[in-house]
Amino acid sequence: MTQNQNPAPVVSSNKDRVFIFDTTLRDGEQSPGASMTLEEKLEVADMLDAMGVDIIEAGFPIASEGDFEAVSSIAKRVKNATVAGLARAAIKDIDRCAEAVKHARRGRIHTFVSTSPLHMKYKLQKEPEEVLAMVTSQVTRARNFVEDVEWSAEDGTRTEHDFLCRTVEAAIKAGATTINIPDTVGYTTPDEYEAIFRMVLNRVPNADKAIFSVHCHNDLGLAVANTLAGLAGGARQIECTMNGIGERAGNAALEEVIMALRTRADVLPYSNNIDTTMLTRASKLVSGVTSFPVQYNKAIVGRNAFAHESGIHQDGMLKNAQTYEIMTPESVGVSKTSLVMGKHSGSHAFREKLKELGYTLGDNQLKDAFKRFKDLADRKKIIYDEDIEALVDDQIGHQGERIRVEALTVIAGTMGPQTATLTLAMDDQHMTKQAIGNGPVDAIFNAIKGLIAHEARLELYQVHAVTEGTDAQAEVSVRLSENGRSVTGRGADPDTMVASARAYVAALEKLMAKRLRGKPEPMVG
Ligand code: KIV
Ligand code: ZN
Repeated sequence: MTQNQNPAPVVSSNKDRVFIFDTTLRDGEQSPGASMTLEEKLEVADMLDAMGVDIIEAGFPIASEGDFEAVSSIAKRVKNATVAGLARAAIKDIDRCAEAVKHARRGRIHTFVSTSPLHMKYKLQKEPEEVLAMVTSQVTRARNFVEDVEWSAEDGTRTEHDFLCRTVEAAIKAGATTINIPDTVGYTTPDEYEAIFRMVLNRVPNADKAIFSVHCHNDLGLAVANTLAGLAGGARQIECTMNGIGERAGNAALEEVIMALRTRADVLPYSNNIDTTMLTRASKLVSGVTSFPVQYNKAIVGRNAFAHESGIHQDGMLKNAQTYEIMTPESVGVSKTSLVMGKHSGSHAFREKLKELGYTLGDNQLKDAFKRFKDLADRKKIIYDEDIEALVDDQIGHQGERIRVEALTVIAGTMGPQTATLTLAMDDQHMTKQAIGNGPVDAIFNAIKGLIAHEARLELYQVHAVTEGTDAQAEVSVRLSENGRSVTGRGADPDTMVASARAYVAALEKLMAKRLRGKPEPMVG
């Protein structure tokens, strides 16, 4: 085996160009609890665009007013990538999707219908011939609006081969330019998936008129393997998400697929446009806005992905990094810490550190961040990069909020009752409430409820220590749900109780913003 140590991306013929279709904002956002605000979606879209993603699936415009607004705003803003919206095989879906992507430099309508016997019989309650007619009419309608139409055979891997070929042929005939055969339920295996693409590409007479696409769910942990197998079978578009988020066990992780293509370019000769040094930042951003933690041992972007603990490995690494490292941390954007920050660091060093971590802040934002950094440095001996990231992310996340945690005192301990006295500032009005609870966090949340009445249900309360040590900052996530909508708020502070209050208030504020929008449509897989 020849090992390829961080080769430059392979420049090959157009035939081997693989298009990266990111669906973090659509399939990813469908994970229960992963919903993002408009601002967060715009931030993620900007990051994906800058990273070199070819197609950004920005949402499902018919799902809700919020989804429509997100797709439409992303379409207007994205500079390079094609912006796609999802639509079922219904006139109202396709028309709404067309409206949402119409301002994109390059807009795509992605329309789908189920083709497996199970889905047709129980979900659609339609005969195969009726579904075949729907394929033609949905693609034809979409083509009235845009030239770039993707058609997906939902549950494609459990579809009878003859019928799959007939639907693909009909879709291409009606004008579909991309054909996606999704493994909707994460059921296929690499050999089987490769064979499906070979079979369809061989049997469908006009198959060369479209680009074929893979879309793999991870129910059996095979999403990335199946994705690569699909390429071997002839697919040239990859549908994936950052951190692998998505329905149930998620989708193929973009960072894993991309680094497999890059690291094993010797056996996977496909080119793409992704700037791999942005992968870590993109992963952190998506994890932050969704509050879905990245598991420590997650390939490529996990905290331990480049950590070497055992003595034997450390010894080998010191002699030659290639002994245990198949790709460098720098190639995925993990920076070697150059500037060590502490309470004596000045604003110039702080600005440089932010640059190194990939943040560009305006002057006012920088001033505020520097003040918070100085406060933190007074309270904490060692300031790690993660501390600065948590601090800046917290500041960005709370930008433009109307409600602020102004003051908090908590009585905790064995004597009880645990009591919180909380002052919130809302549009420059101050309100104070004292409440008791079953523990200090419960007391704080009760105080918030006393100040801002609401019926939202607490779905998740999660505390994460940003670094090691008892003086570590706490990063708290709070997920609230109301009428089928979930939102997540975050807060970071060396005081876990303050971080908890900030996170709850942030979630509540997002929920209040969502109340202004319409009732969501049922989502798809
Ligand atoms: O998993 C799936 O089948 C989907 C389609 C809507 C493409 O997400
Ligand atoms: Zn999917």
